[in-house]
Amino acid sequence: MALASDKQTNEANELMLSLPKEMGLNAGPYLHLFQDFWCPSFYFQGVINFQKHFHAKDSDVFLATFPKSGTTWLKALTFLIVNHQRFSSFENQPLLSSNPHELVSSPEFILSHDLHDQILSLSNMSEPRLFSTHLPFSALPKTMTESKCKIIYICRNPFDTFVSAWEFSTKIKSVSSSPAFTFEEAFEKYCNGITGFGPWWNHMLGYWNESITKPDKVLSLKYEELKEDTVFHVKRIVEFLDSPITQEGEGTTAIENIINLCRFEKMKDLGVNKSGYIHNIAEKKNFFRKGKIGDWKNYFSPSMIEKLSTIIEEKLSGSGLSFKVHS
Ligand code: A3P
Repeated sequence: MALASDKQTNEANELMLSLPKEMGLNAGPYLHLFQDFWCPSFYFQGVINFQKHFHAKDSDVFLATFPKSGTTWLKALTFLIVNHQRFSSFENQPLLSSNPHELVSSPEFILSHDLHDQILSLSNMSEPRLFSTHLPFSALPKTMTESKCKIIYICRNPFDTFVSAWEFSTKIKSVSSSPAFTFEEAFEKYCNGITGFGPWWNHMLGYWNESITKPDKVLSLKYEELKEDTVFHVKRIVEFLDSPITQEGEGTTAIENIINLCRFEKMKDLGVNKSGYIHNIAEKKNFFRKGKIGDWKNYFSPSMIEKLSTIIEEKLSGSGLSFKVHS
């Protein structure tokens, strides 16, 4: 088994080295252009293993996101919805003692090491299994697209997503000794689609188009809409997942409790989210920065606004996907 896995690692490394590469946002790790998306080197082996060895179950729920679009929030909300009947009271909710990223993990990360053991432990997870992924729709394993598993996607206006990613990248433990990019250099990369799991427009459009043609398979949400009318959009998640919450007499109260527990201020204030690291790289507290719509206005110059607006217009035009960014 060890030899087989060494061979697979070598094959993945060889493949990775043969691909076009660019420096990532925090000046590392490298991004490799693989299957039309920029895959961080850190994830490469895990992505290959996810595509080759993961077996989706019809009851699986996947949260798909482009980084910094609201993954943490969506994980918290969906974890509570999916596990609604498992925890008798809100006082013993795991969300009070674990960060959402510790409760919902990504196969592309888990499967990057100890493949055999990890596959076994994934297959033994209680159902419904809840996972997350940053992979674009086109790179998902076939087993996911062919099974009846459900996918919830969240995207966010590209202005705020970029600022959130930029701020996050300045705080992440550097995995490279080379100097980090300036805000302007990082913006150029973002405009060229060169960020982890990007281009962001392909990422958004892949899931968006799928949510139009297969609304029972993919539910598409926007961070801004979730913020502006949380009750309405959490109800959409509940209905999409056929959760029994709605059939229960106390459905509305349960939904309100879930929303309250996942409020930005509440989560940011939890002891468990104030210290410690996720994957030994990102500090938990940095997943809760401002949680606001429109912070980009404090960062962008007029020429940057014009440039990104034009790219959004060009890339998303005709798709039906749009963002209110100037209100
Ligand atoms: P800002 O950097 O703009 O504050 P991700 O979870 O995909 O990494 O996205 C991080 C963004 O979501 C950050 O945005 C973070 O503050 C925000 N966020 C985290 N938890 C949230 C919550 N419970 N409600 C709303 N926004 C949240």
